Amino acid sequence: MTRLRKVVFPVAGLGTRFLPATKVVAKEMLPVLDRPLIQYAVEEAVDAGADTLVFVTNRYKHSIADYFDSAYELEETLERAGKRELLAMVQGLLPRHVRCVYVTQEQALGLGHAVLCTQAVIGDEPFGIVLPDDLIVNDGPGALRQMAARAADGKTGVLAVEEVPHADTGKYGIVDVEAGGDRIRHMVEKPKPADAPSNLAVVGRYVLPARIFDLLEQTTPGAGGEIQLTDAIAALLKETPVLAHRFAGQRFDCGNKAGMVRATLHFASLDPDLQHLVAGAASLS
Ligand code: UTP
Repeated sequence: MTRLRKVVFPVAGLGTRFLPATKVVAKEMLPVLDRPLIQYAVEEAVDAGADTLVFVTNRYKHSIADYFDSAYELEETLERAGKRELLAMVQGLLPRHVRCVYVTQEQALGLGHAVLCTQAVIGDEPFGIVLPDDLIVNDGPGALRQMAARAADGKTGVLAVEEVPHADTGKYGIVDVEAGGDRIRHMVEKPKPADAPSNLAVVGRYVLPARIFDLLEQTTPGAGGEIQLTDAIAALLKETPVLAHRFAGQRFDCGNKAGMVRATLHFASLDPDLQHLVAGAASLS
């Protein structure tokens, strides 16, 4: 399988759906129980083989770098208090062989532009992209690892897809796949249900060849002056296979409040101390 050495986390968006919290707290630092969204995302990347995590941030998002940095005073205090389990937890957020690189996106010019900002760090190898607000859980291999296995030749692109209700196509990039296969023929950004070629929606995981950077450079800004990743992928699939991967796992859209609540209830239901609250929450609905 292709080992995805480098994985990009575009985290420079404004997170307006979680205002006012996101006025000062990065959306990716919002916790599902006691772990921030970014923690779940980096664990999936490490599971796929990543040793270089590339965060595209903006000048207000220092908290993500602070989170992965060592916290000398906290660690010393925990050490002195003999709180070994907590100490191991804060020191073990990332395996030792993994390094973090931070790239600033000067202006929020769209997801495609955020990815383009990482060109110098990624260089000429296939790479992964994880949008942390799509939290995907699976008992077996993570979604990104499943996708890396399908991109073994280093040239094939792979996009995670999921069936969504027809009424929701306007919220996603929607793909049209060849009959009886997974190769994507066509992709449209946020089509109205009547114009959508299917109900297969692209969700926040991508494995792409470095060729995508040339195509992003040639992409003209679309609606709202944003450079869309979808437009560059639409160009890519004319020259190389791009597969739609129906991932094994359950996705929580933590970019909105309902998804965040569902994810919280899911993890609470797995925690013996919290399970009884989930049963209570179900009876309230
Ligand atoms: P979203 O469309 O979810 O936007 O971006 P957002 O700002 O995060 O959240 P809302 O809609 O205002 O609540 C999709 C992903 O692309 C990143 C975001 O951080 C998110 O991971 N992004 C978006 C950038 O890194 N830069 C951009 O210019 C735009």
